[in-house]
Amino acid sequence: MKLRSSARGFLAFLLSLPALKADDWITYPSSNVCAPRGSTVHISCHYECPRNPNINLTVKDKKWFSQRDVDVKTDTDYAGRVEYKCSRPSCTSHICNANCTLSISDLRQSDSSEYKFRFKTYQVGILEYAAGLGVTLSVTDLEVKVSSPMRNNPSWVVLECHSMCGLAGNPTYIWIRNGQSAGEGMKYPGIVWSQYSYSCAVKGYEHFPSPSVCKSTPQFTDIAPG
Ligand SMILES: *[C@@H]1O[C@H](CO)[C@@H](O)[C@H](O)[C@H]1NC(C)=O
Ligand SMILES: *[C@@H]1O[C@H](CO)[C@@H](O)[C@H](O)[C@H]1NC(C)=O
Repeated sequence: MKLRSSARGFLAFLLSLPALKADDWITYPSSNVCAPRGSTVHISCHYECPRNPNINLTVKDKKWFSQRDVDVKTDTDYAGRVEYKCSRPSCTSHICNANCTLSISDLRQSDSSEYKFRFKTYQVGILEYAAGLGVTLSVTDLEVKVSSPMRNNPSWVVLECHSMCGLAGNPTYIWIRNGQSAGEGMKYPGIVWSQYSYSCAVKGYEHFPSPSVCKSTPQFTDIAPG
């Protein structure tokens, strides 16, 4: 008797979910994330999972997959650099939700990929739900862009510490002049003498500076010679 009513409840539940697609159950606050080489990135998602007294939808195996469709934690390329975290699920009588984070430290260019969160639930045996969408991570190198504000005087140049995509937060830039730290500063450090060499880094990731520019032969990116 008990079994039969629970089976009926189960069927009703399945019918109430026309497409068992976790695509709609997993969302990402941002679909593109940019981070400098050497830094640590936190990619987050939010999931919701229906709850039903007749079936056990306990969420387990919360994992992140890269574009290669490999559980990032088991991928030797990421060894020792990956952490998965999930908040304690918050449940109502018919839904549970939680936030999960993938952290990758010491970022490399090869970490640029699309990452997807997946989880399994105990349902009819075990079902795995994959989210259709993911988060695209771009690991960026820094570059110093040089321009000349004074056409007749190429001894003075304007620098910009440039990354291929917008860095999260408001990073502090470190400027390196002639191989020595020239202190903390802005993305645009003002007008400087072109007879020195310059490179920049993001504070906290000083060991990943941009290549050096200038030293008497500035390579202008925006003016024609003469
Ligand atoms: C659901 O199934 C899992 C694995 O069998 C078990 O650990 C858990 O206690 C079950 N939860 C409920 C509410 O029955
Ligand atoms: C998930 O994160 C959002 C935004 O930070 C927060 O409002 C919400 O309470 C979190 N949910 C859980 C279950 O931790």
